[in-house]
Amino acid sequence: MIDDAQLKDIRADTPGLAQGAHLLACGSSLQPRPVVDAVINHLKLEAEIGGYEAAEDNATAHEGVYDHIAAHINAAPEEIAVVENATVAWQHAFYAIPLAPGSRILTAEAEYAANYVAFLQRAKREDLKIEVIPSDASGQLDTAALEAMMGPDVGLIAITWIPTNGGLVNPSAEVGRIARKHDVPYLLDACQAAGQVHIDVKALGCDFLSVTARKFLRGPRGIGFLYVAKRWLKTIEPAMIDFFGAPWTSRDAYTLRPDARRFENWENAYALRAGLSTAMTYADQIGIDAIEARVSHLGGLCAEMAGALPGVTNMDLGVTKSGITSFKLDGADASVITAQLRVSGFSVGTSGPGTTRIDAEKRDLPTLLRIAPHYYNTEDEITRCVKRLGELMSERR
Ligand SMILES: Cc1ncc(COP(=O)(O)O)c(C=O)c1O
Repeated sequence: MIDDAQLKDIRADTPGLAQGAHLLACGSSLQPRPVVDAVINHLKLEAEIGGYEAAEDNATAHEGVYDHIAAHINAAPEEIAVVENATVAWQHAFYAIPLAPGSRILTAEAEYAANYVAFLQRAKREDLKIEVIPSDASGQLDTAALEAMMGPDVGLIAITWIPTNGGLVNPSAEVGRIARKHDVPYLLDACQAAGQVHIDVKALGCDFLSVTARKFLRGPRGIGFLYVAKRWLKTIEPAMIDFFGAPWTSRDAYTLRPDARRFENWENAYALRAGLSTAMTYADQIGIDAIEARVSHLGGLCAEMAGALPGVTNMDLGVTKSGITSFKLDGADASVITAQLRVSGFSVGTSGPGTTRIDAEKRDLPTLLRIAPHYYNTEDEITRCVKRLGELMSERR
């Protein structure tokens, strides 16, 4: 549990809160001071002594990012590649997984747009089929339906654990159990899960997992990571390589690195790595279980309070709810309301149908208003934001 004294310290560590109530952790959350310091200190060192020299002098700290990530997700450091963002992490895995012509890719209704367009591209190029696993009555992925869809031609299960909108938490560990049973590769998008819920890659049974730093992890923008299960490291060949991931070992040959860093390039954002490393430590010091409990509590409050306003309907799905709440606004444009809330000191966001098209088409969703508190937010900030939303909505009637 995060108690009042701890919350006070956390908020004192979060300079951005002085600017207003930031309630958009699913977009990009507020970084704590130690993360900002880690990034700036490394940039300053680069300016003072040069980029290569700064990387060399901070080498131990930079290597530490693999240990921090691995400890946080119950993996080994050699199973981690640090890359630019969740999309790049996901793409590295997806485009490297061998799929025989005619094989089926199984995904979920709330799959993220960036992933789905990549399915479409490979399907077009390689004669693959994309099949969407139906949701159950609660709106979460139906694991019985998934089990019924399995067969020898399933080449991949790729789903999003916590989608970008809709409050949903898909049963990712149960999906992993089915993937393992049928020995099918399982690629899990954990972009919105990291820093919000407990991640244990062994319990999830996933082969690959993609994450970004800037959302619930409170890291800087422009960095993320990929987990690659050890069993893949003997065989998996990245779709693109450079001489860091695959050293040029003789004139006509290269040798892949033995670890997941075969997916990395030689050039790196060392300042951002320092920030990511610090963000992982920061989350672990607070404790992911305490974070999960508070995010769930604050998300539930948002859903209940904003959903009770006239003209505002909570659109969240699933049995277990994430901290990302989404609302349909009657007679109001969510983008305009978002801009007006921002002027009033409340940062919230929108989510358009193009981000989760299958779900949006099924439920005929317009652009939704998204409110996603983090553990550093307070009940008071949510109450004031909902009150202002209510005022803006009543001005439209
Ligand atoms: C579910 C999900 N997956 C992937 C991404 C892409 O993350 P990134 O922008 O870091 O590549 C997002 C971004 O919002 C997301 O919500």
